[in-house]
Amino acid sequence: MKKILSSLAALLSFLYVAGQNDATLTIQQNNTGATISRHIYGHFSEHLGRCIYDGFWVDEKLPVKKKDRIRLDVVEALKKIQIPNLRWPGGCFADEYHWRDGIGPRDQRPKMVNTNWGGVTEDNSFGTHEFLELCSLLGCEPYISGNVGSGTVEEMNKWVEYLNFNGESPMTKMRKQNGREEPWNVHFWGVGNESWGCGGNMTAARYADEYRRYAVFAKNYPGAALKKIACGASSDDYKWTETEMQNIPLNQMWGLSLHYYTVPRNWQKKGSATAFDEQEYFTTMKKCLYMEELVSRHSAIMDHYDPQKRVALAVDEWGIWTDVEPGTNPGFLYQQNSLRDALVAASTLNIFNNHCDRVRLANLAQTVNVLQALILTDKEKMLLTPTYYVFDLFKAHQDAKLLPILLNSPEYSMGDEKIPSVNASASVDSNNVIHVTLVNLDPHRTINVSTQISNLSWKTVDGQVLTAAKYTAVNTFEAPHTVQPAKFNGAKKNGNNLNVSLPPQSVVLLEMKN
Ligand code: AHR
Repeated sequence: MKKILSSLAALLSFLYVAGQNDATLTIQQNNTGATISRHIYGHFSEHLGRCIYDGFWVDEKLPVKKKDRIRLDVVEALKKIQIPNLRWPGGCFADEYHWRDGIGPRDQRPKMVNTNWGGVTEDNSFGTHEFLELCSLLGCEPYISGNVGSGTVEEMNKWVEYLNFNGESPMTKMRKQNGREEPWNVHFWGVGNESWGCGGNMTAARYADEYRRYAVFAKNYPGAALKKIACGASSDDYKWTETEMQNIPLNQMWGLSLHYYTVPRNWQKKGSATAFDEQEYFTTMKKCLYMEELVSRHSAIMDHYDPQKRVALAVDEWGIWTDVEPGTNPGFLYQQNSLRDALVAASTLNIFNNHCDRVRLANLAQTVNVLQALILTDKEKMLLTPTYYVFDLFKAHQDAKLLPILLNSPEYSMGDEKIPSVNASASVDSNNVIHVTLVNLDPHRTINVSTQISNLSWKTVDGQVLTAAKYTAVNTFEAPHTVQPAKFNGAKKNGNNLNVSLPPQSVVLLEMKN
């Protein structure tokens, strides 16, 4: 009894937050077996602005290394962060895309108007073969969104056959004529996008019926069972999630999506990507942390219909959405990327990791030159944004076992509002290496984190930190290395525990080995 009381007292004293700059973190053993799917670290590339054209797919004459017209410096950068999947062709574009326009000799492909994004002419030079070649260069899985809004069941049925069938058929004959002998075996398959809005303006019940019909004809071919993803809710539309879970049989969908963007101000005037004060920084971080509530509440609804968690919550669009850079096409959604964006990315990824039992796929919008981009290009120049480096640090969690945490954080307050300064997640990989990612959102205070690690052995700790003098700091083509990771010396072993001194406005990766 005495022993129990004294260990209880020790635990309580550990959980007690001694000062306003102190946090406690307990890292526990994984008793649930939950794994952080690498597909949480997915990306998104829409025919929008300069993401595909002038991002991935460039002019033949551009003096950069290319395969066909695919830009290889961009490919190399994304391989380095182990990009696990890439979503294409949209977004809103997906529901006006007719795949047959994007195959065959390029000079004979019909053109179309990209009505969603700037009304520009789409020449269809980047289509199915080019996208799948890009995925093969990246070593990632393709995630294709089919057209439900303005397409047909036949069109989707034939696209799947063209992609995945290995026998003799009109579609496979056409594929071979277009230069591809073997099927690609695409697995991730979106059945429409934002069907409540740009994808058809449907009611939840109508979409559930459409999904069931489309899903029947999106066939599984040998070696290529589809992981079908139903269009899910926008933000806090819990009714939508409820309706889809009620009406779509669990064995007919691999995942249900969720879209949520962090908009610093409002949809009319979103706020600048680079010029903002601390109030706006705080509001942005508060809105970003709202993802925790969204994921928890959508998951709770899913748990009701699917207690065994067979259906994944696929957050296949997320990220910060600001005003476009002054002087750029408003329909192209080109925005700069600051340290604030890196803190948004890291906090969101920590949330996804901690909910990895349900969140098993996610896609940041959008990889190159659009919204919260990892990479910006200007003709032959290319730069890596602060958000890119978050994915570089967090790749350590891919396919590792989640270590559940208990975190007691001091608050960062602004007026009457408060958010936790610190967020974190932890995992152990197949080599028994422990990784902890920590974020300090407070731009003024260093936070001391006392970390207790239960029943896991480790001897050495190493770390990297991503921070800058200001949360508005950006990488530019003139100064591309302003925000990039550096060695972190703020973690000290203390028995089996760890003391971490977390700098203001920073992301830290710790690696603990035996
Ligand atoms: O990512 C930009 C757009 O945001 C996508 O096309 C759409 O799905 C969402 O509204």
